[in-house]
Formats: sequence, structure tokens, C-alpha cells
Amino acid sequence: MTDHITQTLENRVLTLTINRPERKNALTQAMYGALADAINAANDDAGIRAIILTGAGDMFTAGNDLGDFASDMERSSGEPPVTRFLNGIRDAEKPLIAAVNGPAVGVGLTMLLHCDIAYAAESANFRTPFTALGLVPEAGSSLLLPLSVGNSMANDILLAGRILSAQEALDCGLVSRVEPDTGLMSAALATAERIAIAAPTAIRRSKALIRMNREAVKDRMEAEGKMFAEQLKSPDFAEAAAAFMQKRPPVFKD
Ligand code: COA
Repeated sequence: MTDHITQTLENRVLTLTINRPERKNALTQAMYGALADAINAANDDAGIRAIILTGAGDMFTAGNDLGDFASDMERSSGEPPVTRFLNGIRDAEKPLIAAVNGPAVGVGLTMLLHCDIAYAAESANFRTPFTALGLVPEAGSSLLLPLSVGNSMANDILLAGRILSAQEALDCGLVSRVEPDTGLMSAALATAERIAIAAPTAIRRSKALIRMNREAVKDRMEAEGKMFAEQLKSPDFAEAAAAFMQKRPPVFKD
């Protein structure tokens, strides 16, 4: 259980808010677990027709909590909560709408590749500092991001850590709409409510068609997960995590 994920249900739209603003909405294993439970439960809940994912405060999410990253991956027996979350969004039966209210870092960006619709606030930006942390892409992003935004842009983001503005994210198709900060949630809710009043079987079957033949995504997520876990044990990640905590630049050995 965690208080850092809040849920509201209105007009058959479930809104899940990442609510840990004092840590820039960085995600802990408990938070991944709560998100996974809510998204998986919605699959069989006729009272939920669409799900909005958003963040509290001025940030969507600063990505994985750097403090509990390595320790929790090692501690977990069975499927780690982060894996349950990623599998949950990959296999979600109800439409997922991301309302990216501020900067989205790491999994904050890669989770969008599993959302059916993503909108951004003007103050949002997008980046994956994986290589700067000694890590590799996750959530199927090594496959899905090039398909979504093209090869060069995907490598600019995944290899070079390029930060995209909301407008750039719109231009390359990572999001489909940019709204003023104050209008983001109403735009996301209006879209979710349009989905919620459409014929549920048609929505479910349409989403299933759009997501058909995605075995390659599953395979890629497994390959990424294995490599990511290896990198988490590397001296490079240890140095990057220590440097972040000590508020200094990392120094990597050749
Ligand atoms: N994990 C753990 N704590 C985090 C965090 C994360 N991913 N992101 C931010 N925090 C913490 C900071 O350590 C800081 O704590 P402190 O007040 O005890 O010093 C607090 O949240 C506020 O963050 P701060 O860096 O002061 O805010 P900012 O607005 O200057 O910068 C970010 C925001 C997101 C750009 C910056 O915090 C950052 O780069 N975070 C790391 C992102 C990251 O690498 N994520 C992993 C991706 S795989």
C-alpha cells in the first residue's frame, strides 16, 4: 500500500495520479505495485471505461526512484512490481490516456509508448537519461520508440539523452496534443469521457485490433529487462547513483 498513488473514479473514468511531489514523483516499487494493481483490476471492472495517468504538482514523474532502484530489483522474489506495472500497461484492456503535466523522465517517457493516447502540458518535457546512468532502454522502448518517432530522433533521445520540449514531442508524434498547463486535465477528461460513452465492446475490440501481433514487444521487454538488471549491478550505475545523491557529475572509467 502507498499513499503516493491516488485514485479517483468519475463518469467511469479512473484517474491515477502519481503523487509524491517532494521527490518529483519518482516511482518506488510500492508505487509501481499500486499502479499495476489498479490497471490490472480495471480490466475486469465494467465500471471503468478509460484510465488517465497523470502526476501531481509540477512534474509528471522523475522516473524510477534512484535510491531504491537496485535494492528493490534484488530484493523482490517473483515478478518485481516494476515488471508488473510495465506488463500491466502493455496488456491493459481499457484505454490508457497519459496527461503529461510536467517533465517526464525515464519511465515517464517510456510508459507513454504503451498508452493509447498521450497529451502534454506546455510545461512538459521528455527525456531518458539511461546511458548517463549506465543503464539501457526499458519498457520496450528500444523497439517502440524508433517506430513511434523515427530512428534518428529515438537515438537522439535514448543514446544522447536529448530533452524534447512539449512542442517537439508533438512534432515527432510522441504526444498527440499540447495544451496550456491549466487546460490539460480537462482535455484528457473530455477525451476519456468520449471513450467512456462509446460502445464498450467496440472500444475493447478496436484496442485489441490496434495492439494485435505485439509478441515482439514482449520479447524485447524481456531482453531489455535482463540487460537492465545486469547494468544495475555495474560499477557505472553505482557511480551514477552515488553522483546523483552527492549532487555531482558522475565520472565513468574507460
Ligand atoms: N529518485 C530519487 N529522488 C529523486 C529523483 C529520483 N529519480 N528525482 C528527484 N529526486 C529528489 C531529489 O534528490 C531532491 O531531493 P532533496 O530535496 O532531498 O535534495 C528532490 O527530489 C527534488 O529534486 P531536485 O533535483 O531538487 O529538483 P529539480 O527540479 O532541480 O530537478 C529533475 C528535477 C527530475 C530534473 C532532477 O531531480 C533529476 O534529474 N532527477 C533524476 C532523474 C533520473 O535520473 N531518473 C531516473 C531515470 S531512469
